[in-house]
Amino acid sequence: MDAMTARAHVFQPWATQEKEDSVPVIDRGEGCYFWDSEGRRYLDLLAQIFNVNLGYGNRRVIEAIQSQAGRLSALNPTLTSAPRIRLGELLAEVTPGDLNKAFLTNSGSEANEMAFQMARMVTGRQKILARYRSYHGTTIGTFSVGGDPRRLRSEPGVPGTVRFFDPYCYRCDYGLTFPACDLHCMRKVEQIVQFEGPESVAAIVVEPVTGANGCIVPPDGYMQGLREICDRYGILLIADEVIDGFGRTGKWFAVDHWGVVPDILVLAKGITSGYVPLGAAVVRPPIADYFERQYLPLGCTYTGHPIACAAAVAAISEYRDRDLPARAATMGGYLMAGLRTLQETHPSVGDVRGLGLLACLELVKDRTTREPLVPWNSSDPLPGRIKRRLLDRGLLAYVRWNMLFLSPPLIISETEIDEGLAVIDEVLGEVEAGKV
Ligand SMILES: Cc1ncc(COP(=O)(O)O)c(C=O)c1O
Repeated sequence: MDAMTARAHVFQPWATQEKEDSVPVIDRGEGCYFWDSEGRRYLDLLAQIFNVNLGYGNRRVIEAIQSQAGRLSALNPTLTSAPRIRLGELLAEVTPGDLNKAFLTNSGSEANEMAFQMARMVTGRQKILARYRSYHGTTIGTFSVGGDPRRLRSEPGVPGTVRFFDPYCYRCDYGLTFPACDLHCMRKVEQIVQFEGPESVAAIVVEPVTGANGCIVPPDGYMQGLREICDRYGILLIADEVIDGFGRTGKWFAVDHWGVVPDILVLAKGITSGYVPLGAAVVRPPIADYFERQYLPLGCTYTGHPIACAAAVAAISEYRDRDLPARAATMGGYLMAGLRTLQETHPSVGDVRGLGLLACLELVKDRTTREPLVPWNSSDPLPGRIKRRLLDRGLLAYVRWNMLFLSPPLIISETEIDEGLAVIDEVLGEVEAGKV
């Protein structure tokens, strides 16, 4: 389908409409592959958009959706249903520590909105500390918190955000090196809290492993350090695991790598394996107790939608019964090894990083100077062309500025990873030869 027809009546997200190339019309999927309406097959190394953790065609989730749609397909949110109750129990079981009560939403953006609002209500404080390289959603509230440059067009936004630098060791904002740095970037957060006035800070929010802003994996001690700062000053720690959650990083939740329990865990995407929209903000008892006595003014028409809850119960049961977080850890090791081999032969690969099945290649013009292939937030068309070249070769990945992200379904096999790496190998060769 040509680009004009595709966008005649529907906006393309994250796009200057007239600059968009034609996009394939996707028709069906099975396992780690999907097909367009012309019968072309694509290997999905991105789980669509970091969400289809079970791949396509999972019978258990599909049948749960079908059966729930036949039984009860809509419900007033002030009533409840068996899938909603079961989902609450399951989330309490799989999330770490004493996180035990969920507020259900339709998306990750909404779940973060609820988390930020609850944090303000419970603490009676206004400010939220967030990192520059972060994305927490596309609503005015979440745009105002996340540091992702997509926010810039909607500024000034909602007041009260204070941002800090990330644990980005490949390009340390303080020019330091781990471990000699003694986690300087984490320690700076305490100074910022003091300068801002701890009594004004409601929450610190982080993606424990950063998603679309660089797949930044914090060094050991970083998340524990943030937890301690929050405890010292009565600040709530919010972990946005919209991408990281449900096995993506090789554990159920990324915070599990460091034994940290946030006060609010924000979830979406993998919660239903992307089959239907759902998000959740899961909280610890002090927050739950607060709303036992105080009115909870938050809600929406589709809070706890029965079909979404049924899909989530099925998806989470699949992760658990098939131990997919452990599989993501094993296959993640295989993927990282393959990416490191690519780095050996491709001078354009500056850094390889990731955790579990969330990985990123950082592309550079020169490995010694680390000059990025295209600068941060650049409108250079090259990343779009690389993404397109990969798609034309039958591979879905995400290319943003100088970063190439991979986040395949957790069911991916070694053969499928090899197939994907062969395409990336070819396309990186073309990038280096100036042919893209
Ligand atoms: C870390 C993170 N938080 C929040 C969101 C927003 O989720 P949604 O797109 O479901 O609103 C995203 C979306 O990509 C995300 O990556």
